[in-house]
Amino acid sequence: MNFKKTAVALALFGFTSASIAQATFSFVAQSDMKAPSHVVFVDDLENLDGAAARLNTASEGQLLKLLALNDFETKLGHVQHLQMVAGLESLLVIGSKDDNGISASELQDLGGIIASSLYSTTKTVDVAVHIDNLTLTDTTLFTPSALIASGYHMRDYSFDKYKTKKDEGKSTVTLVTQNAEMAENHYQNDLKYVAQGIHMARDIATEPGNNMYPEVFADKIKAAFSGIDNVKVKVLDVRDMEKYNMGALLGVGKGSVHDPRLVIIEYLGGDKNTAPIALAGKGITFDTGGISLKDNDGMWAMKSDLAGASAVAGTMHAIANRGEKINVIGIMAMAENMPGASAIRPGDVLDTMKGTTIEIMSTDAEGRLVLADAVYYVQQEYKPSMLLNIATLTGSAARALSDEYAAVITRDFELSTQMMEVGKRSGEHVWPLPLHANHFEQIKSPIADIKNSGAGNPGASIAAAVIATFVDESLPWVHLDIAGVDWLSEDIDVSPKGSQGWGVRFMDQVVREQVK
Ligand code: BES
Ligand code: ZN
Ligand code: ZN
Repeated sequence: MNFKKTAVALALFGFTSASIAQATFSFVAQSDMKAPSHVVFVDDLENLDGAAARLNTASEGQLLKLLALNDFETKLGHVQHLQMVAGLESLLVIGSKDDNGISASELQDLGGIIASSLYSTTKTVDVAVHIDNLTLTDTTLFTPSALIASGYHMRDYSFDKYKTKKDEGKSTVTLVTQNAEMAENHYQNDLKYVAQGIHMARDIATEPGNNMYPEVFADKIKAAFSGIDNVKVKVLDVRDMEKYNMGALLGVGKGSVHDPRLVIIEYLGGDKNTAPIALAGKGITFDTGGISLKDNDGMWAMKSDLAGASAVAGTMHAIANRGEKINVIGIMAMAENMPGASAIRPGDVLDTMKGTTIEIMSTDAEGRLVLADAVYYVQQEYKPSMLLNIATLTGSAARALSDEYAAVITRDFELSTQMMEVGKRSGEHVWPLPLHANHFEQIKSPIADIKNSGAGNPGASIAAAVIATFVDESLPWVHLDIAGVDWLSEDIDVSPKGSQGWGVRFMDQVVREQVK
């Protein structure tokens, strides 16, 4: 679905960009049509069906005439705003034609489009969305209306805590659908938690570095997970890390007045004897580059260099709250990369928990350092059946794949292609980059076991090779580089610009697909 075109269409009708309030959702089998706003879908102007057909009859054909007058396109996601059709104050007609059928993530996109279209005119919304004529790709795990609600919820986000004047307004979204009870259950007991997890991830990644450093991040995780069944949060501080000889994670934190933390969320919802899945996130609360200082251009955005860790937190939130019958360990390596007087220098050699050494070529290649100790620790302590790590790791991945795809790197290409399929099902897409023997060659150091960056290209693969050195070769391992995808300069259907909480939907899908 092309959001930019939708945005152009909205602009033509006097809509401006959104600032958004939080909505509540309900599911009903029939609507009294009393809500001031309504949404209907149209995929064929010659053969109107569902709520659109009923409205056309009620308006004595006025609906079709107005659509023709406005050159309405039935293309999926195209939006037309109309007023006073069959006496309705406001009507959004949305194109729903898709030759392949509408997929789960496209349903979420539709929900996002509804939210952004409505909020562009007012912050208080009372809308009924009529879902009785959508043609779907496959029988998705969830009812269409629950997915539309979840997409709306995902889009329904603003970060206004530092604005003196807050976004105000209360929104009520009623989804009118035949299987209202099942939809309610899907949304309230499952998809709602995914959207909340995404919002949690965005909150953490958007928070400025002065208010989000490792200690604060760890406290937020403890608070967010307290009281959830089968969850334990462990926080390792500097003394603990010293005991484990985590010189790489400690090294990155040395230039900052804020000490690093290693935070582990244990969620044991499955069988006691089943090995867990491990999710490891890079949690650099601010990346100045350290002594290898970045230039100022765009440096402010490095407040979101913890987006991998915040996505792990958001995913754990969703899984634990819905009580998935599975064991999952989320681990977040938190440090602030600053050029302080005790900061590590290029040329320094650091010890790692594994017992090997790393020579520092650039203190700005810090994500792989904190992850080296984190992934080693999680393998030692939890013997996972699979390890996925996620990080805003390299400009190289962002240059290669822009914001369409996160980079996926594995030792086994088959696993990468499986991840591409998971991506399609989740709505968050990944594309493989290689891991070749030459990438390991490039990180050989003359004085230590490895060095933290190579002389040249490809940067994303070299970074992965550093982490791979700390991952057991027989363990299924997925490396995700999200440097290009998390922070958006423009809105997309399911997220306003800024951090989109990338990875929550992807990792959530990975976990779902493991549940037998
Ligand atoms: N956090 C950055 C990567 C990044 C870049 C994230 C742009 C989001 C947007 C990472 O720590 C970094 O600085 N990587 C360097 C590595 C280099 C020094 C080997 C890079 O990619 O330039
Ligand atoms: Zn860096
Ligand atoms: Zn970084």
